[in-house]
Amino acid sequence: MAESNPPNNNPKKESSVDQKTRKKQKKSKEDVWRPDGPKDPFVMLNALSEEKQQEIQRALHLFSLGNGLPKTLEEARRQPHPFWDTQPVPKLVDCSSLTIGPIEVDKPSVRVKPYSLPQGFTWAPLHLGDLVVLEELCTFLNEHYMEEDDNTARFDFSPEYLLWALCPPGWLPQLHCGVRVNTNQKLVGFIAAVPANIRIYDTEKRMVKVNFLCVHKKLRSKRMSPVLIRELTRRVNLQGVYQAVYTASGVLPSPVATYRYWHRPLNPRKLIDVNFPLSTLTRNMTILRALKINRLPKAPKTAGLRPMTRDDLLGVYTLLQGNLEKYHLTTVMSKEQVEHWLLPRENIIDTYLVESSGGVVTDLVSFYTIDTLILNHPIHTRLKTAHLFCSVTTSNPLTDLIEDVLVLTKDKGFDVFTVLDMMENTSFLEKLKFGIGEKSVHYYLYNWTCPSIDKVGLVLP
Ligand SMILES: CC(C)(COP(=O)(O)OP(=O)(O)OC[C@H]1O[C@@H](n2cnc3c(N)ncnc32)[C@H](O)[C@@H]1OP(=O)(O)O)[C@@H](O)C(=O)NCCC(=O)NCCS
Repeated sequence: MAESNPPNNNPKKESSVDQKTRKKQKKSKEDVWRPDGPKDPFVMLNALSEEKQQEIQRALHLFSLGNGLPKTLEEARRQPHPFWDTQPVPKLVDCSSLTIGPIEVDKPSVRVKPYSLPQGFTWAPLHLGDLVVLEELCTFLNEHYMEEDDNTARFDFSPEYLLWALCPPGWLPQLHCGVRVNTNQKLVGFIAAVPANIRIYDTEKRMVKVNFLCVHKKLRSKRMSPVLIRELTRRVNLQGVYQAVYTASGVLPSPVATYRYWHRPLNPRKLIDVNFPLSTLTRNMTILRALKINRLPKAPKTAGLRPMTRDDLLGVYTLLQGNLEKYHLTTVMSKEQVEHWLLPRENIIDTYLVESSGGVVTDLVSFYTIDTLILNHPIHTRLKTAHLFCSVTTSNPLTDLIEDVLVLTKDKGFDVFTVLDMMENTSFLEKLKFGIGEKSVHYYLYNWTCPSIDKVGLVLP
């Protein structure tokens, strides 16, 4: 009894205080994703001219050191992780486990009801087969997906690109999970999962690849992400799937692998103009020197290198199957998935291959395309980036094939070619004049523990 609350000697006063507290608690719960009070900073910001808003955004960006996800393990260890601490993921202290297997061994009983959202918000089924919805998602991601918004660039995903990234064979509409504002139906949050067979060391498992977590810029830091992740996990669990693979540019509990982006300038003049952050293109480098250093051969040199066609499906599938053992984290594709992920689609995915005289596909390089809009630049409006997606070589040197692909992408009007420094890629980076980028990508597994992985053969577009 000593620990119980003091007796209530003034019921009238107590009840009005209680009422106020209750009101306050209710309001703070309901308004959890809403800006506060009459002096709503967003309303104030919106009242300013576009130019002024951009100036403020740039200034905020400059002073926003320390925001966003931690960049290093040490930083991440110093921060609390109230959400991730409740999830079946390895803790940051013991992230290099020696065991391999699920963290939650017993299948959790799956909650039937969706997680509740704060009042004023609702879960939105996003049927990407509906062109209006697809375009709406495209606009939302293009406006909000950029991680560091210093108002100089933004992604320009096309509806076709999103269909490629989000609707591979076996995709489920309920795993494209949106949040809308009740009053105006505006999309303000999104997360997606697509099914995939993933091989981790010697275990192959039905999992999902999680991607495109995005929260409206004005609703950041309000803990919407944990709700999106929990709800997506529930929907995935309902499919009998309990593991996921995902990537992030910051450190969460706990990465199984980390790689750095490297970039090869194809149009150095433009990259210098737009201040593309790259150590090999410094401000005091003359254009002539940059052009000379980054000069490429006039034509590809690998005999027989050509774009993949539908007739190559079986050959490519067989080549990929024979390559699986090399990796400790990779995706095992069916023929339908090979067709979806690798068959060329203009401005989305390109695959080049070499076929032996006996008709066997021996080498393959594929890359996907990301367009970025350049904002507020007097000359340039967009940047075209090729991202290395997959490469397998059995008869030609990888360096030669990549150099050939650099030549082809330059001819196609790409400005830069980007790769991660995983596996054999490290063998060509310096030879082919790639420069180290500013960002890393960390790989994560949900509900799976294993030793750190140094042989990753998986790129999430
Ligand atoms: C990533 C993004 C959704 C995070 O939103 P936010 O408002 O900063 O974060 P919230 O308040 O909603 O949630 C914070 C929690 O989510 C986690 N989180 C943040 N980003 C995450 C990510 N990319 N993946 C997984 N978890 C993430 C945080 O670790 C934190 O959990 P913790 O307290 O246990 O550490 C938001 O910054 C965004 O939309 N960015 C642009 C798109 C983007 O970069 N997406 C990620 C691609 S990998």
